[in-house]
Amino acid sequence: MKVSTTSVTALAAGAVAAPSNNVPRKSAAACAEAVTLDASTNVFEQYTLHANTFYRSEVEKAVEAITDSALKASAAKVADVGSFLWLDSIANIAKFDEAVADVPCENILGLVIYDLPGRDCAAKASNGELKYDELDRYKTEYIDPIVEKIKANPNTAFALLIEPDSLPNLVTNADKTACADSKTGYEEGVAYALKSLNLPNVVMYIDAGHGGWLGWDANLDPGAEELAKVYKNAGSPEQVRGYATNIAGWNSWDEEPGEFSDASDAKYNSCQNEKTYVTKFSAALKTAGFPEHAIVDTGRNAVTGLREEWGDWCNVDGAGFGVRPTADTGLELADAFVWGKPGGESDGTSDESATRYDSYCGKPDAYKPSPEAGEWNQAYFEMLLKNANPAF
Ligand code: GLC
Repeated sequence: MKVSTTSVTALAAGAVAAPSNNVPRKSAAACAEAVTLDASTNVFEQYTLHANTFYRSEVEKAVEAITDSALKASAAKVADVGSFLWLDSIANIAKFDEAVADVPCENILGLVIYDLPGRDCAAKASNGELKYDELDRYKTEYIDPIVEKIKANPNTAFALLIEPDSLPNLVTNADKTACADSKTGYEEGVAYALKSLNLPNVVMYIDAGHGGWLGWDANLDPGAEELAKVYKNAGSPEQVRGYATNIAGWNSWDEEPGEFSDASDAKYNSCQNEKTYVTKFSAALKTAGFPEHAIVDTGRNAVTGLREEWGDWCNVDGAGFGVRPTADTGLELADAFVWGKPGGESDGTSDESATRYDSYCGKPDAYKPSPEAGEWNQAYFEMLLKNANPAF
């Protein structure tokens, strides 16, 4: 059952999830009837991105560790912000049950599907558990169990963000052996995910990098064609709504003329902010035959001018929490600003001796020390909070 338009508008307007004391925790708060999402509409106008219990508990622990009372009070508010929960390994599918248990009918639970064989082929920090040739395990041990869990919760709405970085890596990093090896697994894996997760209570967004990646003039069409190819191979599933940009990224939504517009190669990229990227990439997608609506991660993009290069992706020093999730983006093609990356979780370790050490996490503009990707970094969380815009 969808929530009525009136209550929905009221919820969407505030953008931030309801205060924690109003959210029934660990209760069967789902809708009374099965949810049907119409992927030809913007479901974020109807549903508020859920402040999931996993991030909530990470933040609550962080709050306990803060002594300054003013900072403590503002930190506590972060727990109420909706964000995506990353199911980043077979073992972490277990996070689903607790996360789904307290989703009120007017909320949508955001999940990141992120465990492709040969994951993170162009970098090291987030290399996954499955080898590039373990597509069968991806299907049977990862996607199929998630499908079962979603089917078992027909009264809950889900927004799925499909496999960050994967198809963009095939477009621009095909010269790297690991990406070349991963091509079949990524394309068949993403198609399998789209086909299998095409359920009535789900909307899906496939990751499309960011303006500094597929936004280069020469990458827009190949990028759009890659997404469209995989989507068509999956049978053009109805519940695919579009794509996701700036996931775990740092780009401004609408800074003019753009953070890297002074760079010597700026003339080759007309997408100097995410708003322009969404506008141009949507047009390319439409031509390629792919649904052209976007969600954009604004979780950590409050401060610009911090990176040496556009491609610097790891734990950017000086960053701040950005705009809270909202369907009020000012651009029809952009369904919502979301928090994709849970701010406070690391992008990668700065420990040079670690197996998953990536040199980007050792760059001068990367925060150090930083733990393994996905692990909590208390100091980084406090920095994001202090630099938040809007402030908490
Ligand atoms: C990184 C990690 C992953 C984590 C995610 C969100 O990509 O590899 O484990 O869940 O970030 O923090």
